[in-house]
Amino acid sequence: MSQAELYDKVVKAFQLRFQHKPQLVVRAPGRVNLIGEHTDYNDGFVMPMAVDRAAWLAVSATEEPWATLRALDMGGDEAIFPVDQIPASVGGWSDYPKAIVWALHERNLKPVGINAVFSSDVPVGAGMSSSAAVEVSFGYAWMKLSDFELELPDLALLAQRAENEYVGVNCGIMDQMISACGRDGHAMLLDTRTLKRGYFPMPEGVAVVVADSLVRRSLANSEYNVRRSQCEQAVSILQEHLPGIKALRDVNPDQLVSLGHMLPDVVLRRARHVVHENARVAQVARALRAGQLETVGKLLVEGHHSLRDDYEVSAPELDALVDAAIEVEGCYGARLTGAGFGGCVIVLVAEDNVSELKSHLTSRYQELFDTQPRVYITHPANGVSEV
Ligand code: GLA
Repeated sequence: MSQAELYDKVVKAFQLRFQHKPQLVVRAPGRVNLIGEHTDYNDGFVMPMAVDRAAWLAVSATEEPWATLRALDMGGDEAIFPVDQIPASVGGWSDYPKAIVWALHERNLKPVGINAVFSSDVPVGAGMSSSAAVEVSFGYAWMKLSDFELELPDLALLAQRAENEYVGVNCGIMDQMISACGRDGHAMLLDTRTLKRGYFPMPEGVAVVVADSLVRRSLANSEYNVRRSQCEQAVSILQEHLPGIKALRDVNPDQLVSLGHMLPDVVLRRARHVVHENARVAQVARALRAGQLETVGKLLVEGHHSLRDDYEVSAPELDALVDAAIEVEGCYGARLTGAGFGGCVIVLVAEDNVSELKSHLTSRYQELFDTQPRVYITHPANGVSEV
């Protein structure tokens, strides 16, 4: 379904349900991450781009302090909860908007009651930030309809806090920040410590292709937390010799070589991924600016191997998609994107070779796993906006 069709879908469903036109339609995009994986909770660097798949929300303010929300993708399931107090969590999709209400109260901001209908074409559990898109869309709608203003990076921080503390997923800031602050045609270089952002135009003639393995791993959240604590363990051991460091962001590859023997093997491998991945983000940014796509592609593949071997968050299906992608002429590189354990790979490929890539990935995956991946081109999009 195109983005225009999603717009029509939420507006029509809103009118049918609430018998009037919505005051506001909001879209907040999902994302892919070009490079910088598992670096954001280590105060490091990331380089995501918002994509042309988004959560769409048709919404109006109400007189009464209640949210009445209809989720079109959940068979029209409805949630009704108060917004003048902290709504109780029941699990499931309504926890994301409720988490935003919680986070607004934490900041002493008062959300108005709303009627809303929403739908999203960001695939769930695919590592493309479907939950950040929902959080950011509701945060933005509440901001527009209530009596307060937030800068977009601040909205992203609020949404991250909502996810960390209300939903209970200990994610970093990347997903909410790119959903809030993405820019059409550009990837965003984000320093997750200072929140400084830079934008890099994606070169002409190259496509970013997403190949969704359709593998969904339920252990992703607990494994993610294990990786986080291994990184913290590395920092606390390394601090004995490097007292100034606060996070793995502060450790360079040479320091890790000389002090690595102090770390348990698995912790060393996690740290090695993060330290080198941070360096790769800077290298990719430089190469992109210089139009050196071969170098970008090579760094993407290195990043994937590091996620596979040192960080151990890949899956055979993702490895196979990367291996198959780089066999195709015109492919610069490929890697898993997002937290891993399933989900998607991204492929940087010359536009002329996209159809060849699609058919090669599909037939190779069919041969190996007896099923087909979902493969499509994605375009760098703007962050959240009113439509
Ligand atoms: C998930 C988290 C992000 C980030 C990535 C891994 O998408 O939400 O904050 O940590 O995993 O890079």
